[in-house]
Amino acid sequence: MEKIVSLCKRRGFVFQSSEIYGGLASTYDYGHYGVLLKSNVKAEWWRSVVQERDDVVALDAAILMHPRTWEASGHLEGFTDPLVQCLGKCKRRWREDHLREAQPEGDLHCPECGGDLSEPRNFNLMFETHMGPVQDEGSQVFLRPETAQGIFVNFKNVMQFARKKPPFGIAQVGKAFRNEITPGNFVFRTREFEQMEIEFFVPPGEAPEWHGRWMEERMNWYTSLGMRSDHLQLRKHGADELSHYSSATSDIEYLFPMGWSELEGIANRGDFDLTQHAKFSREKLDFVDPGTGDRYVPHVIEPSAGADRGTLAFMVDAYDEEEIEGRERVVLRFHPRLAPVKVAVLPLVNKDGQPEKAREVYTDLRKRMSAEFDTGGSIGKRYRRQDEIGTPWGVTVDHQTMEDDTVTLRDRDSLDQSRIAIAELGTELERRLAAPWTSPKLG
Ligand code: GAP
Repeated sequence: MEKIVSLCKRRGFVFQSSEIYGGLASTYDYGHYGVLLKSNVKAEWWRSVVQERDDVVALDAAILMHPRTWEASGHLEGFTDPLVQCLGKCKRRWREDHLREAQPEGDLHCPECGGDLSEPRNFNLMFETHMGPVQDEGSQVFLRPETAQGIFVNFKNVMQFARKKPPFGIAQVGKAFRNEITPGNFVFRTREFEQMEIEFFVPPGEAPEWHGRWMEERMNWYTSLGMRSDHLQLRKHGADELSHYSSATSDIEYLFPMGWSELEGIANRGDFDLTQHAKFSREKLDFVDPGTGDRYVPHVIEPSAGADRGTLAFMVDAYDEEEIEGRERVVLRFHPRLAPVKVAVLPLVNKDGQPEKAREVYTDLRKRMSAEFDTGGSIGKRYRRQDEIGTPWGVTVDHQTMEDDTVTLRDRDSLDQSRIAIAELGTELERRLAAPWTSPKLG
């Protein structure tokens, strides 16, 4: 993880938030390549769950919602972690359930200084703020701790206006906020993060089948984007782990540097949410089948992924080091569709008309895909930089280019170099971008 964090900083993927003030704990800002990478992850998610299906539609709900939402959803009451505080020297706060996993026997003690711990108290993870100029109880609102509730409260609107009937889903990407007691592991667990969630509404009898289908669908999404299948697993929650709304949940886990950890949860939420919102809002949130006249509250299958956690997993999976001709090379072997930059155009030398020619090639290519033009430093140094940001292809303009309008095309993973006419370059790169891809790290 340290190597990933350092590469992220060195190449401008992710920075500590408010760094000039000493940073804000566990809060991060994405720089240029980080933004491009994360937006590619989100774009691939949209492509697979909306564009390539005809039973899921998109939504973008507000972060601030009516406070009753959180009463109905159970978050006001139950979205808590058991918090204990060190009564010894360090006074640090810990999650009791995490400590219990690490110290299964006997009385718990502070892992930092060994001190005794306070009695646990339930700590609500929702951030609260106030709406309008008066800060009283009536103006209290919450930053949403999940995007899901924005979908449930729009169920009726979407069903009417998108002319959908179960089985159908609503997909949303957006920020969520949780006042985590123990954030950590870089962008794995933060207090402000992005989720990519689908609420898929089905006739009650079909819920177990759709749960299975979505588990398969979502596992395939990660592997189709090159994630190594031997670093992915599905883990079914035990009865003691289930959230208050869930009758069955399985997590897709990835083998992060700190061990197997949750990447995405796929829950069968039953009719919990629609029933609760119908009760609290007094709106009917059921579905009447126009064919049979049957009336029912749809059940919900929820594949809920983290955009930041997914981006981190794709980075960890892509990170590689190798020795080439006695020199170490660090390379991010991203699936080309995820790579922040698809192609770098580099003049071999900074003279003889090569920079001007390379700029022409670059100006053409960037209309078709994310491209970079770089003249700074030796060609080897420029390639090392592109390898570190995971650019799959490099184009070198050299003296032969000036004679026959061909360039060298270098492949990031195999390091193969081939000669190609400039006129064919864009089409060839688009063909490669669309082709199936397997991580060379799979061996
Ligand atoms: N609506 C269901 C829900 O929110 P969750 O398991 O609490 O379920 C879903 O969150 C996903 O959101 C997780 O699998 C993870 O990828 C991401 N996530 C949750 N908490 C996070 C945090 N503090 N930091 C980064 N990502 C987080």
